[in-house]
Amino acid sequence: MVFGDFMNKSLSDQPVNWRDTFGFAVAPDPPKPEEIPSVCRDIAIEYSKQLRELGFRIFELLSEALGLDPCYLKELKCGEGLFIAGHYYPACPEPELTMGATKHTDSNFMTLLLQDQLGGLQVLHQNQWVNVPPLHGALVVNLGDLLQLITNDMFVSVNHRVLSKNIGPRISLAGFFVNSPDPFQDSSKVYGPIKELLSEENPPIYKDTSIKDYLAYYIAKGLDGSSALEPFKL
Ligand code: OGA
Ligand code: NI
Repeated sequence: MVFGDFMNKSLSDQPVNWRDTFGFAVAPDPPKPEEIPSVCRDIAIEYSKQLRELGFRIFELLSEALGLDPCYLKELKCGEGLFIAGHYYPACPEPELTMGATKHTDSNFMTLLLQDQLGGLQVLHQNQWVNVPPLHGALVVNLGDLLQLITNDMFVSVNHRVLSKNIGPRISLAGFFVNSPDPFQDSSKVYGPIKELLSEENPPIYKDTSIKDYLAYYIAKGLDGSSALEPFKL
């Protein structure tokens, strides 16, 4: 279980993200119920189950969109592990001095995000920050760096950020689909561009990359908005 803002580097010139985060792996091995705080125990278990099923459905659609067999991305284990994170963005007295979350791309295959009604999430589109307005009952589907790597840029992971506000708290819940419940331990797992997507016109952009090397670089770099895929290009 992780408390605090685990994506913030403590010693850096970047502002500290104005938020707290609480998260844990829920799949493939769900935690024991007594390990989950009682205040969110039942809902966390139920929500994770449903989110995982939805994630698999979306991976099927993404596989088909790539012209691959519907089970392709599932069989590659893109959604085998699921980590959920509850973000708590407190009201900030001086919101212009910091960010709820600085510009970043997600370091996984896909994120399904539930945000509350306060707004503040933005995506970078054609060099402009565009609001992602809260829509009741809707989830935000965000494709991550690792999906960009294996699809050889056919899917691109988008930069996004969360503004801080003088009202709050804002609450969001992110479900991160990863290859294993503990990608740091699963160092042997290597991903590269999917062979079926490559051709003479579409040569591989990325080298075969271990999740461990990629994550080590992503964390060391911090949430500074630069692409963590850069060192893994051929
Ligand atoms: C994330 C993220 C956005 C939000 O968890 O990676 O970008 O709205 N969250 O909390
Ligand atoms: Ni993100």
